[in-house]
Amino acid sequence: DNEEDLIVRPAVVTIMGHVDHGKTTLLDSIRHTKVTEGEAGGITQHIGAYQIESNNKKITFLDTPGHAAFTSMRSRGAQVTDIAILVVAADDGVMPQTVEAINHAKAAEVPIIIAVNKIDKEGADPSRVMQELTEYELVPEDWGGDTIFVPLSALQGEGIDDLVEMINLVAEVEELKANPEQTASGTVIEAQLEKGRGSVATFLVQNGTLKIGDSLVVGTTYGRVRAMVNDLGKRVTEAGPSTPVEVTGLNGVPHAGDRFVVFTDEKQAKQIADLRSQKQVEEDRGSSAKVNLD
Ligand code: GTP
Ligand code: NA
Ligand code: MG
Repeated sequence: DNEEDLIVRPAVVTIMGHVDHGKTTLLDSIRHTKVTEGEAGGITQHIGAYQIESNNKKITFLDTPGHAAFTSMRSRGAQVTDIAILVVAADDGVMPQTVEAINHAKAAEVPIIIAVNKIDKEGADPSRVMQELTEYELVPEDWGGDTIFVPLSALQGEGIDDLVEMINLVAEVEELKANPEQTASGTVIEAQLEKGRGSVATFLVQNGTLKIGDSLVVGTTYGRVRAMVNDLGKRVTEAGPSTPVEVTGLNGVPHAGDRFVVFTDEKQAKQIADLRSQKQVEEDRGSSAKVNLD
């Protein structure tokens, strides 16, 4: 890799937290305040991820449930998240899935920012949330730790700017870089079969630049990039590092967490996909044989 080809890439952020603590509301709120009005598609989301821009810095948010993102991706050896936002409702405090989320983020060794949500609610007690999280070594700076806490109301849009600012700060410290010139690779965020379109997969490009016509292997599937649609529903011809993009042209439906890699030679891409399929079939036979033995 050529050092000088490296560019700063947008942070990829996942939102996690206990049920009903406000993950979806927060994702919506960030999108509403930060996606430029008037852009094609407006604020309508087209794929399971979106990008915002603030202070000339882009941030990519994954709209997959945080736990799923970590578990299914990591079971396939993929890591897509740079920063985890842990949403904790200030009227509810630390709950079982809060702890689960902390464990996932720690196992993945990604920095955690705490969004103390629902501060508008009667009975909200942000300092109780801080107190409870000290048990998990998440200690605010004011108390001698190094965890960033952002009090906010996702519902009222309060504190969203602060959160985005903190994400940019953490991203800067992380020095997230990629080489847009190298062979494109990345991870499948989600995929399904759609009537009239065939296999439709949302990719997160992690390195290189994916282009229309590229031959690629994705898990046990392969194909050529026929068309790409960005998070605003616009057709694009290329997608660089940290960009989420919806891709058609694969011969099958890959799994979330599968890696994709571009090959210069379509034949080679097909061969590799075929080999992987064979191996998969053998592995499946092996495990069903085991089940039969048990
Ligand atoms: P699951 O996806 O089911 O785990 O829930 P979630 O974490 O995505 O929570 P969601 O965004 O669906 O919010 C749950 C409820 O809390 C909804 O009724 C929201 O309107 C409400 N809510 C979310 N954020 C706030 C907030 O800042 N203040 C108040 N008062 N209510 C909020
Ligand atoms: Na909910
Ligand atoms: Mg939700």
